[in-house]
Amino acid sequence: MCGIVGYIGKRDAAPILLEGLHRLEYRGYDSAGIAVIEHTGQLRLAKCKGRVRELEKLLPRRFKGAPGIAHTRWATHGEPSDRNAHPHCDGANRVAVIHNGIIENAAALRTRLEAAGVAFCSDTDTEVLAHLIAAMPDGSLEAAVRAALRMVTGTYGLAVLDAARPDAIVVARNGSPVVLGIGEREMFVASDPAALVRHTRNVVYLDDGELAVVRADGFATSTLDGGATAKVPATITWANEAYDKGDFAHFMKKEIVEQPEAVRRTLSGRLEPRFQTAHLGGIELAAHELLDIHRVKILGCGSAYIAGCIGAHVIEQLARLPAHAEPASEFRYRNPVIERDTLYIAVSQSGETFDTLAAVQEIKRKGGRTLGVVNVVGSTIARECGRGIYLHAGPEVAVVSTKTFTCTVVALALFAIHLGRIRDLSPGQGGRLLAALAALPDQIDEILAREPEIARLAQDLACCDHAFFVGRSAGHAIAMEGALKLKEVSYLHAEAYSAAELKHGPLALITSQTPTVVVLPADDLLQKNLSTIEEIRARHGPIISITQANRAPPAVDAAFSVPVSAPELDPVLLNIPLQLLAYHVALQRGCDIDHPRNLAKSVTVE
Ligand code: G6P
Repeated sequence: MCGIVGYIGKRDAAPILLEGLHRLEYRGYDSAGIAVIEHTGQLRLAKCKGRVRELEKLLPRRFKGAPGIAHTRWATHGEPSDRNAHPHCDGANRVAVIHNGIIENAAALRTRLEAAGVAFCSDTDTEVLAHLIAAMPDGSLEAAVRAALRMVTGTYGLAVLDAARPDAIVVARNGSPVVLGIGEREMFVASDPAALVRHTRNVVYLDDGELAVVRADGFATSTLDGGATAKVPATITWANEAYDKGDFAHFMKKEIVEQPEAVRRTLSGRLEPRFQTAHLGGIELAAHELLDIHRVKILGCGSAYIAGCIGAHVIEQLARLPAHAEPASEFRYRNPVIERDTLYIAVSQSGETFDTLAAVQEIKRKGGRTLGVVNVVGSTIARECGRGIYLHAGPEVAVVSTKTFTCTVVALALFAIHLGRIRDLSPGQGGRLLAALAALPDQIDEILAREPEIARLAQDLACCDHAFFVGRSAGHAIAMEGALKLKEVSYLHAEAYSAAELKHGPLALITSQTPTVVVLPADDLLQKNLSTIEEIRARHGPIISITQANRAPPAVDAAFSVPVSAPELDPVLLNIPLQLLAYHVALQRGCDIDHPRNLAKSVTVE
């Protein structure tokens, strides 16, 4: 989840590394640092607590030369501080290491090193690596890194510089992504292609257990045991602008606005009107195999888990199969029973979330069948699942998920239609849903055009300390996502509850100072939700309802209505105003929307 960037070639590394760090700040932003081997052969280092712009201010002009490595951090071991920022060096300031992941046996290694007289400068697990590598007998940097990595357990994506051997950067991967960028007599290293798209589109993704020696004129990959591996370069297809904010003040806003286009891409080529079903090329399960599936389990973390809750609901409705979503982190720790006739769907924007990946690995180890619903093409979870549905939503840079949440629900709805049409869903029902899916982009546009109305609603919330979000069935999942979004970007304490459960406890907290956002689709549960509204009003709780255009607005303090879709797809539209609500509350509270405190985009540690 930290950002790694490296450069080796004829140019000065520092400007390239700083630009890369800015693009990686969404992976962590509590501290940043840079190490460059100068023309004199000396390793120069600068690092500090805070954002990349603070680091920039620190850099002396004479920070010249290459190779160099740089890092933006999301703290695991040791608080965010100057001394805990990466890179970490050995005592002689010869070897510099940047690292993403966790070295699990760091404490034991540290004790051993300290007993041998090594003085540590930080509280991090990473620093042990720098000392271990520096202490290896003379030989190549590659051999030293290999030997050090044999001594550690844990996860890493890392890059190492050695002032005594300045002709290479050595990188390695085990659980945290590392990508190499191939230039003209220069090479780049990063934890994410976002850092290198400005310079090259030709990239190589390392696999777990791989190490690479990167020189200006090329690279060589091998396993940790030293066996050479062959890599086929891939091409990044996204335009540079996809990684830029353009005229938008925040990536979050840009990505909310991109949703109509993102949904069109998720749907592209997948609506099959001839058979009134969905066509999904990557699921690689024939109709007869899908008939053998009697249960669906969806796993993910954060917003991906919540999108899974809605997806499970749609699958259950359309395919009439028991379907359930569960946080991936909980699932893998309870020694789960894996069933032959269950399909396990892993949902992840990044395709790198550690808990989701670990759940997939556990399922596969026990012989279960997995399918990935992932945004980042070629990511670890996508590859581990072996079959799946790509969202094609485009890069999502804001820490909080918006367009990929929407596209995940759409992708799971496509799968539900496909599964349903193999079972009992009639052609007429299939056709109805295809038409509703095709209409979604324009309907989302309609909602986005009414943003000023939502900005006004946000004023009611921005001055509160607490809020409830309630809904029933899929509306409960939308309430969960609405509350999560608000918490993440505005730091307002927002709690989501099933509307039915409110009276079993949380109602005690309803006062005139605690607004409730009610997700109110015009479905079979409308009357029940209206009763919940009455219960809240009787306790003087202010109410904002997110409802649908085909019904009279309820008697509440404020309401916003969305266009009507198919009932199974209504959650997609009901969620859009809640994204904008969170955005505007955060804006009004002066929060750093694209860099919410303590969070990171892609959580590659446990
Ligand atoms: C982090 C992000 C969330 C995201 C979750 C899962 O916690 O801050 O926005 O929903 O990870 O990420 P994934 O990449 O697996 O969808």
